Amino acid sequence: MNETINTLMTRQSVRSFKDTQIEEGDLKTILEAGLKASTAMNRQSWHFTVVQNRDLLDTISQAVAQVMRNTEVPSLVERASQKSFSCFHHAPTVIFLSSDKTIYSLADCANAAQNMCVAATALSLGSCYVASFAQAFSIAEGKKLLGSFNLPEGYEPVFSVALGYTEGSLPPAKTREWKVSYIR
Ligand SMILES: Cc1cc2nc3c(=O)[nH]c(=O)nc-3n(C[C@H](O)[C@H](O)[C@H](O)COP(=O)(O)O)c2cc1C
Repeated sequence: MNETINTLMTRQSVRSFKDTQIEEGDLKTILEAGLKASTAMNRQSWHFTVVQNRDLLDTISQAVAQVMRNTEVPSLVERASQKSFSCFHHAPTVIFLSSDKTIYSLADCANAAQNMCVAATALSLGSCYVASFAQAFSIAEGKKLLGSFNLPEGYEPVFSVALGYTEGSLPPAKTREWKVSYIR
């Protein structure tokens, strides 16, 4: 099979990572792949923030856990109360994609995040697209953390990509329905 098609077909979300940090060269390639994503009117309406600071990632995760507990939904409360809970699945590197909130910015950021995940697969790294972290910024404790991102004025983090070396074997790949119709 064509190498690019094979990479697209074999990407799957990884939720168990080794502690070992990824190579700087691989990180750069993944960032460049993100920057190469299709972007409406070439506005590049994103900002990427690489976080390799375990304490910051854990603190964001704890804020997410707090929001989950506040919902009082039993399944969420149970998940958030697990000692091992990490919305980033304990990945050693997380790239946050922030939107400038212009009309197509969410699409720009989503395209970049997907490119990063596919690039990670091509480099034999595990990746997981994570959006749930954004809940952290809905509460006061989480809002304070946003300051450490030093984002350009008007930007807000919308997606993230958790990256690292895959720990253990992957679960069976999730299947997709053929939601396609043809007009010929
Ligand atoms: C916009 C978006 C948000 C996502 N947020 C999360 C998340 O917060 N946590 C997580 O573990 N996976 C998250 N995922 C990954 C999806 O759960 C995953 O892609 C889906 O279940 C299909 O599995 P696959 O990626 O292994 O094919 C997200 C994916 C997308 C596109």
